[in-house]
Parts: sequence; C-alpha cells; structure tokens
Amino acid sequence: MTAQLIDGKVIAADVRQKIQQEVASRSALDKRPPGLAVILVGHDPASQVYVGNKRRACEQVGFYSRSYDLPDDTQLDQLLPLLDQLNADPLIDGILVQLPLPAHIDTTQVIERIRPDKDVDGFHPYNIGRLAQRMPVLRPCTPMGIMTLIRSTGVRPQGLHAVVVGASNIVGRPMSLELLLRGCTTTTCHRFTEDLQYHVSQADLLIVAVGKPNFIPGHWIKPGAIVIDVGINRLENGKLTGDVEFTTAAERAGFITPVPGGVGPMTIASLLENTLYACKRYHS
Ligand code: GUN
Repeated sequence: MTAQLIDGKVIAADVRQKIQQEVASRSALDKRPPGLAVILVGHDPASQVYVGNKRRACEQVGFYSRSYDLPDDTQLDQLLPLLDQLNADPLIDGILVQLPLPAHIDTTQVIERIRPDKDVDGFHPYNIGRLAQRMPVLRPCTPMGIMTLIRSTGVRPQGLHAVVVGASNIVGRPMSLELLLRGCTTTTCHRFTEDLQYHVSQADLLIVAVGKPNFIPGHWIKPGAIVIDVGINRLENGKLTGDVEFTTAAERAGFITPVPGGVGPMTIASLLENTLYACKRYHS
C-alpha cells in the first residue's frame, strides 16, 4: 500500500473531544447542555446501529439526548405532532429523524416539518438552499465530515477536479455543493453516467457513495488521488467493505479512507458539531 490512510476514528475523536470541552465550559457557566432528539421509525437493522451510535456519542460529549423509537406502522399524522412538540421544546436544539423512513411515510413532509434552525441533519430545503447559495448554516453531516477529512490531508481542494459518484439527497448532491464551494471543478456521476471509468480516472479527489461493495475497481484510480469511500456494505461473510476496491486502490491513491473507520465516525462528529452550533447560534 502506498496511500496514506485517512483515519476517521482519530479525527472524529479529536472533534468529539473539543465538543466535550466546550460543553463542560458551558456547564461551568451554568448554561444548559445542547439537546438532541433522535427519532427512529421501524426496525431496519442498519438504522438501529447508526441511531445507537449517535445516541451514545451524544451522551459521551455531555449532550442532553432524547430517544424516540416508534413502531413500523407509525403514521405521518402521528409523526408530525411529535415534530411540532420538539420544535417548540426549549431543551431541544436538534431533531434527527433517521432515514430511510418506512415507504408509507412521505419523507419530504417530515423533513420540511422540522424547524430549519433545529435541522441538524441539514436536509431541510432552507439549509440545502443556503449551502447552494454559498451561505451554509446547518450542513448535511456526511459531506461536512468528509470536508473535515479532506482538510486533514493538508491538500488544498481549490482547483482540484473532484468527482462524486452517487447523487443522493443525503450524500452525493450536497457533497458536490460542498466541493464547489471550496473551489473544486466538480463532476457528479450517477446511474445514467456514461463511461464511469473515464470520469473516475480524471479525479484528483474521488468521493464514492453508491452503496455497492467494491463498485469502483482500484485500477480506475488516478495515481496520487484522494479517495473517500462512503459505502458501508456488509458481505455474506459478515465483513464490512466499502464501495471502492480497497487493496488495489490503495496501491495508486495518495490518500484513502478505510471502511470501517473512515467516513462513518465523521458523520456522527458532524452531527455533534451541528447540534452545538444550533444551540449556540439559535437557542443558547
Ligand atoms: N441515513 C443515512 N445517513 C443518514 C444521515 O446522515 N441522517 C439521517 N437522518 N439518516 C441517515
């Protein structure tokens, strides 16, 4: 392996430690801790793991955390009043509804019901609009965490050709906006992209978020590129693997994130940063 590993666990631990210190300083001044409400609807096993990790991280840094575990058959007209109640709750700075929601619930209505100043996922059209207009407030957590990982390499993004593979609301699309904001020349690839190999091979900075194990062969990577692998895929043998063929990619890349231990911990670190930010900026 020639690439340097981008250690998301270490970088996320550093972010968490700074947040923990700030919460402790607030407490010494008799200020209440930032509060996060986490809502999980249904029993998706991956979502249960992610939500568990988010709740634990909150408690570890000294946040006030409130959990709502709702059954699979929860209806929109039960969820919206809960959001209204949390929107009005003075102890709650951030509201997170874990996605995906069961198919019978209209995700857009749910996201748009969260007050934009408590939307610590950064998914509300107000927050996405602010990002698109180069005036970000609350930013989507995974792309925000990835920007922190890129910063850790010491490489300046300005002028680099960034290629994002995947165009989801949660990662791909806001990721492309973040990179554009930092001065990258940005290409977004998606299911209709022709000649994906050509685009990937042009990337100084490659972000892959498609959710298919080993989707990008390592020999496609441009020598020296920064490779950020967002995928967390469980194989039949129980092992976790990313969207990029790691071993061969690591022979060519300059920097690469591992799976697990790359992007995953940063998503949670960014959620904590957003919750602290919302607390200080809006509700302190
Ligand atoms: N599902 C996958 N990633 C995320 C995320 O960052 N936030 C929420 N709410 N749901 C997700």
